Amino acid sequence: MFAKRMESLKVSAIREILKITVNPEIISFAGGLPAPELFPIEEMKRVAMAVLNDSGSEALQYSMTEGFLPLRKQIADRMKDKLNIDLTYENIQIISGSQQGLDLSGKLFIDEGDVILCESPTYLAAISAFKAYGPKFIEVPTDDDGMIISELEKIITKTSKVKLIYVIPDFQNPTGRTWSLKRRQQFMELINRYEIPVIEDNPYGELRFEGERLPALKSLDSKGLVIFFSTFSKIFCPGLRVGWIAADKKFLEKYTLIKQGTDLHTSSISQQEISKFIELYDLDANIEKIKSVYKQRRDIMIETMKKEFPPEVNYTYPQGGLFLWVELPSHIKAEALLLTCLEHKVAFVPGDSFFPNGGVENTLRLNYSNMPEERIVEGIKRLAKVIKEYNRIKA
Ligand SMILES: Cc1ncc(COP(=O)(O)O)c(C=O)c1O
Repeated sequence: MFAKRMESLKVSAIREILKITVNPEIISFAGGLPAPELFPIEEMKRVAMAVLNDSGSEALQYSMTEGFLPLRKQIADRMKDKLNIDLTYENIQIISGSQQGLDLSGKLFIDEGDVILCESPTYLAAISAFKAYGPKFIEVPTDDDGMIISELEKIITKTSKVKLIYVIPDFQNPTGRTWSLKRRQQFMELINRYEIPVIEDNPYGELRFEGERLPALKSLDSKGLVIFFSTFSKIFCPGLRVGWIAADKKFLEKYTLIKQGTDLHTSSISQQEISKFIELYDLDANIEKIKSVYKQRRDIMIETMKKEFPPEVNYTYPQGGLFLWVELPSHIKAEALLLTCLEHKVAFVPGDSFFPNGGVENTLRLNYSNMPEERIVEGIKRLAKVIKEYNRIKA
């Protein structure tokens, strides 16, 4: 009955298990949800009223596939200001969350059997989005400085049909790592040499708590090969489902064409509300608030991990974003650990699902944005207790 592509799309057992984390008794570090108490609800009530008063009939009408023009201009201005990326509104396509950009990219670039290169590990839902188009994933090894460029070059030189490279250089999901400046420069040198399109997925770049801001790959892109995705989900409100693609026109025109067939356009009213919020309020001040809360939550999580985790457990120290990554002693299987943790009412995502080709069982991802501090302390204590039990069994 179903298309062949559905054979590769399996319901994830872990995702099904994690559905129980909606139970408020469970301290969940599993999702990637922003802190809902930071949503500007009162301001958005006024914004919604202003949009309906000023331009209600357009906000409720069909609109252009490319997106709401004033918002495209605001995004282009912000990108210039924040990221030193000099583009105009004509290089911006609004999409229904950057997740839609991933699906559109699969549709645009991938024939069955084509190769996508990505970081190992990479964003779980990018794997699912691309998988529907039947690619072969080749995982490029990474370390604390990002993708290892010598490994990337080896893979490129011995692989035919590399169609796309997918990367998250800033506060990566799932590891929280950020690529060093040197890696960014080496990466772009290589890309320019081999001329392979790159998706730079950047939902977290503006959520830097400390350290120096590093240039986006797009700002180093002299040949127009980088297709930059970002979103209002993590710097504002994910429920509005508004993100954007910033790219050279040769790519953008194609994205517009396939988006038209997918959903005609992103919600007119959501786009207008974001545009109005930026006009009436201070989006940067909102981002500052988010950063200061997430920084405190990261600090308290790491402090508690330092005290409670056995020394054999390693973890990343993200300078921004929403996640950190834990590496357990190799004999501990994160999926089994999760089942025991759920009995103790604490949850995380086992790392295996972030590796497109699987096979890494002793890692896990923790989210720190969505739980208040006292729940983070309690949750990490519970997790540490279970890890210690598992560690003792081996000893
Ligand atoms: C790396 C990455 N890309 C894309 C997305 C999807 O974001 P959006 O809400 O804009 O669809 C996420 C969400 O967690 C993400 O972490």
